Amino acid sequence: MNGDAALARGDARKTAEGLAHLSGFGNEHASEAVPGALPVGRNAPQRAPLGLYAEQLSGTAFTEPRAHNRRSWLYRIRPSAAHPAFTHTHNGHLRTAPFTESVPDPNRLRWNPLPEPVEGTDFLAGLWTLGGNGDVTQRTGMAVHLYHATDSMDRVFSNADGELLIVPERGGLLLRTEFGLLHVEPGHVALIPRGVRFRVELLDTAPNRGQSPTARGYVCENYGAPFQLPDLGPIGANGLANARDFLAPVAAYEDVEGPVEVVNKFCGNLWTATYDHSPLDVVAWHGNHVPYVYDLRRFNVIGSISYDHPDPSIFTVLTSPSDTPGLAGVDFVVFAPRWLVGEDTFRPPYFHRNVMSEYMGLIEGAYDAKAEGFVPGGGSLHNMMSAHGPDRETFDRASAAELKPQKVDDGLAFMFETRWPVTLTAQAARADHLQSHYDDVWRGLERHFRPLH
Ligand SMILES: [Fe+2]
Repeated sequence: MNGDAALARGDARKTAEGLAHLSGFGNEHASEAVPGALPVGRNAPQRAPLGLYAEQLSGTAFTEPRAHNRRSWLYRIRPSAAHPAFTHTHNGHLRTAPFTESVPDPNRLRWNPLPEPVEGTDFLAGLWTLGGNGDVTQRTGMAVHLYHATDSMDRVFSNADGELLIVPERGGLLLRTEFGLLHVEPGHVALIPRGVRFRVELLDTAPNRGQSPTARGYVCENYGAPFQLPDLGPIGANGLANARDFLAPVAAYEDVEGPVEVVNKFCGNLWTATYDHSPLDVVAWHGNHVPYVYDLRRFNVIGSISYDHPDPSIFTVLTSPSDTPGLAGVDFVVFAPRWLVGEDTFRPPYFHRNVMSEYMGLIEGAYDAKAEGFVPGGGSLHNMMSAHGPDRETFDRASAAELKPQKVDDGLAFMFETRWPVTLTAQAARADHLQSHYDDVWRGLERHFRPLH
């Protein structure tokens, strides 16, 4: 198709490891791949520098408060408007809210990892929707997707329906976006804002797949307000995910003439068009509607240094606020390495029933509330008011443990926590990799009640 794509097969890893970045979440970044490409002192000069076209991409309404406003100005070889009509194409395993394929399920549910993909599956074809909530046409709610892939994308994807938080579990990715290149590895997340075009290239070869690259992970599609850093309240000015650890790309562009397939997800359907050039042709840009990569191990974990297990909201990396203060459309939460020092405290997550609904995934290792069955690449869903907590083995162990300082660093789990129940897609409700006896992890929790006489 083009020189860049051919180069990606052999040199993507080398390209990924030499990338420069711009530091800081929500900053007004500016970057130019060619000196002089960025206009000075105005956004839309009569003639943009170097013969480029000026174009604004907004992620919020023009009139939203300044603190929430997201937009970027792009200076590109051709305006985005220069494209032929899109035609509807098949959606593969991708589904979108409203989710109506199954009855909302109050049961605790858990899945093993997706089966291995067939050869020739790229990131887009490998997206598999588990479920979600809200209504994409109302810009509310979220979807939980998993992905698995064997091939780099040759085509370019953009999502009008929301932003995409990509959580790799296996295999590094090189993301070629309109704003430049990002490198994301398991243990990192990437955030692609609504409408930003990008291509996913695979970096790694799995031991059991010969020379074929492979990638696997999770995606939170957020239809609602863009993710932002949570307020810190009495924590103070620092802590949790620090703004400077979010890395935006520097401008990089493809100057490619020739057919390029561009797939656009719009109100739940995939639409395709063949451009006569690459739309990744942005030579300079400035603004705050930009993609990011973030290393979850940079998360500054705040916890109890006296007693009790804090509510997991203390582990929030990013939050999509709703119109109700404190009520998130979706939170992204990480259970990062940390010390447990609570005195007279049951230290793993407590038993609970929550109004919020929780999808959990595991990037590596093990999770401290589940001794087994919750594996990297798998996931669990605990919908609104479903009763859950530690399994019996964890309860017994933690109830008897010596309460010396304990480092929890043998796993990296995360949660998409959302205000509405997650309704499953038909494929998730009927999946062969849906575990059939998840309830058994809470069997055998014996009564210990001994009333005093
Ligand atoms: Fe929970």
